[in-house]
Amino acid sequence: MLNDSAGNPDLLLSAGDQADQFFRSENGRLMAAMSDTYPLPVDKDEHKRSELHHRLLQFVFSGKNYLGPVKEALQFGQKRRILDLGTGKGHWAVEMADEFPRADVIGIDIAPIQPAYVPPNCQFEICNLDEDLVLPYLDGTFDFIHARSLHIGIQDYPRLLQEIGRLLRPGGLVLLVEPDLFPVAERDQSTGPIKTTNSMADSGWSTLWSTFRTCLQDRECSVDVDVPSRLGVLLAKTEMFEDITVKQANVPVGFWPGDPTLLTIGQLQWMDYELLIPALLNLFLSQGIPQEEVDVIIGQAQHDLYYPTVPLMAHIHIAYASKRPN
Ligand SMILES: C[S@@+](CC[C@H](N)C(=O)[O-])C[C@H]1O[C@@H](n2cnc3c(N)ncnc32)[C@H](O)[C@@H]1O
Repeated sequence: MLNDSAGNPDLLLSAGDQADQFFRSENGRLMAAMSDTYPLPVDKDEHKRSELHHRLLQFVFSGKNYLGPVKEALQFGQKRRILDLGTGKGHWAVEMADEFPRADVIGIDIAPIQPAYVPPNCQFEICNLDEDLVLPYLDGTFDFIHARSLHIGIQDYPRLLQEIGRLLRPGGLVLLVEPDLFPVAERDQSTGPIKTTNSMADSGWSTLWSTFRTCLQDRECSVDVDVPSRLGVLLAKTEMFEDITVKQANVPVGFWPGDPTLLTIGQLQWMDYELLIPALLNLFLSQGIPQEEVDVIIGQAQHDLYYPTVPLMAHIHIAYASKRPN
């Protein structure tokens, strides 16, 4: 951590300098050096995957970057502030800054991978949200806080929600979006998606996901793999939020849907997963799984993605809520 002139630790580092300190190379992939918890690379393939996921969610959210009463939370009259936690390449932050030019948007990440040229009302900071820290913003600084696909980098997600509650002004809005870590295969449209069907139970696809979950849980810096399906419960437990709304998007994977919009979503999710599978290599190896076994797990999951025996589905959890009045 850098210190400011008063000797206080500067929690938010500037991304411009000392870029090397933010990255380490592992088996040909660039990883974030600031966090042992976040298990995925932060390199070009991951940027591509994040963009695919970003575009996919815009289809799911009917062309928007959010769900919930965002415009109400950002009603103008005075300067508004938006915070994007785990901003990645900053696609969401930049587009929100464009859509809400009178709001200041701040994106925070462990890796300085954001573009240099951004709207004047958008800025990025580097910070590890997994450390036992309180972000250097006053209580009630933000009107809207967004955290998407972040939970696998956070050991104590309930603590993060407490911090989000502190940072939001009363009436401010939080929006959480987290993909499920359980494979979901569509069996019957009428009964909706179910967790791992019998026909998927022994598949390479299922093994990939169970290995992913076991590795995340068994590490010293373990994360709770059930966070996505418990977003609403966890928000309620803080006792800081009201009007908690929980939604689930059941996303097709691949080229099977007949509906053109679902087909586009399915293709985007398929391309996302094609990039995700090899991105898990370093996590699996770091947990002591032998290389040959990792190769089999990855190879069989790729096979199931390319030649699925049942239509695959993904499951994305969404929750939004307002900060209670004081
Ligand atoms: C899968 S990407 C999602 C990026 C972005 N939220 C999106 O949806 O496009 C997850 C991002 O969270 C960041 N991240 C993970 N753990 C973090 C932590 N403890 N503190 C700050 N950022 C973190 C990663 O560096 C990565 O850029």
